Amino acid sequence: MAKKILLDCDPGLDDALALLLAHGDPNLELVGVTTVGGNVGLARTTANALALREYLGFDSVPVAAGAGEPLLGATRDASHVHGESGLGNITLPEPTLPSSDRHAVDFIIETLRATPGAVHLVATGPLTNIALALKQEPAIARWAASFTIMGGSFTRGNATPAAEFNIYADPEAARVVFDADWQVVMVGLDLTLQAQANGPVIERLATLGRLADELILPLATYWVDTTNADWDGQAVHDVCAVAYVARPDLFASRPALVRIETRGEFTSGETVVDFDAPYPNAIVPVELDVNGFWAYVEHVYRLVATGHV
Ligand code: RIB
Ligand code: CA
Repeated sequence: MAKKILLDCDPGLDDALALLLAHGDPNLELVGVTTVGGNVGLARTTANALALREYLGFDSVPVAAGAGEPLLGATRDASHVHGESGLGNITLPEPTLPSSDRHAVDFIIETLRATPGAVHLVATGPLTNIALALKQEPAIARWAASFTIMGGSFTRGNATPAAEFNIYADPEAARVVFDADWQVVMVGLDLTLQAQANGPVIERLATLGRLADELILPLATYWVDTTNADWDGQAVHDVCAVAYVARPDLFASRPALVRIETRGEFTSGETVVDFDAPYPNAIVPVELDVNGFWAYVEHVYRLVATGHV
């Protein structure tokens, strides 16, 4: 039985690669996509999700647009990383099918209410939609089969030295999310930086023909932090969150109490992770089976590239 997954995202180079994995894995059933402002503005993240839906052919999956601004404070984006379009330098055919007429928050609540315990909720952008849904209907914390985010870190940030972008973009939303009555799987930078699309990975992905040429390679190579000696490829951050739902066996995790700094002058958006707390609110994946991860991802991408999905 395939695991149902609802993906809230801000496509976004790695969000797009995460969508490809969620669509392509026969053990996952993508039941909905909701969009949030993040890497680029909401209009662009939504247009990107719609274009990816038609390009990949999951036309029957609803795409519902959500929040364009954080709960509080200034709107921050990552267009310097993802490009003005949000998808680097690729151009997909203009979507012909519209987004849902439901707001993302209503879509999330109604989807989880309709099938309690059946849908795995995943968020790979700022947590604004999730926080608004929790405020409107706290029971979604019980209805979700699981809740996994790409966000945070227990060592360092990327948007600032202290904060990872998804949390930095809406710290108040992250606090609402981590204070809710569920266990958050926090797939943070300490994990996702282990998933770098380095030379050998790119070489293997390049054998996937048109899908690689038109989508996978441009997404996976558009931006590499050449200033950081630790990097030998682009980290596919958001892919790790979807992979956790599909293949938790690829991850070694620890329980932790995660609290969100919302007031620090230099630390706003920091995830303060206490692995020794007696009352954890999160599961924090800390180690990735890197070879197993890429074998899984490449297998699923090959299924899509060869028309098996
Ligand atoms: O810090 C990485 C995260 O920020 C990813 O979700 C990426 O898409 C950006 O949103
Ligand atoms: Ca993202």
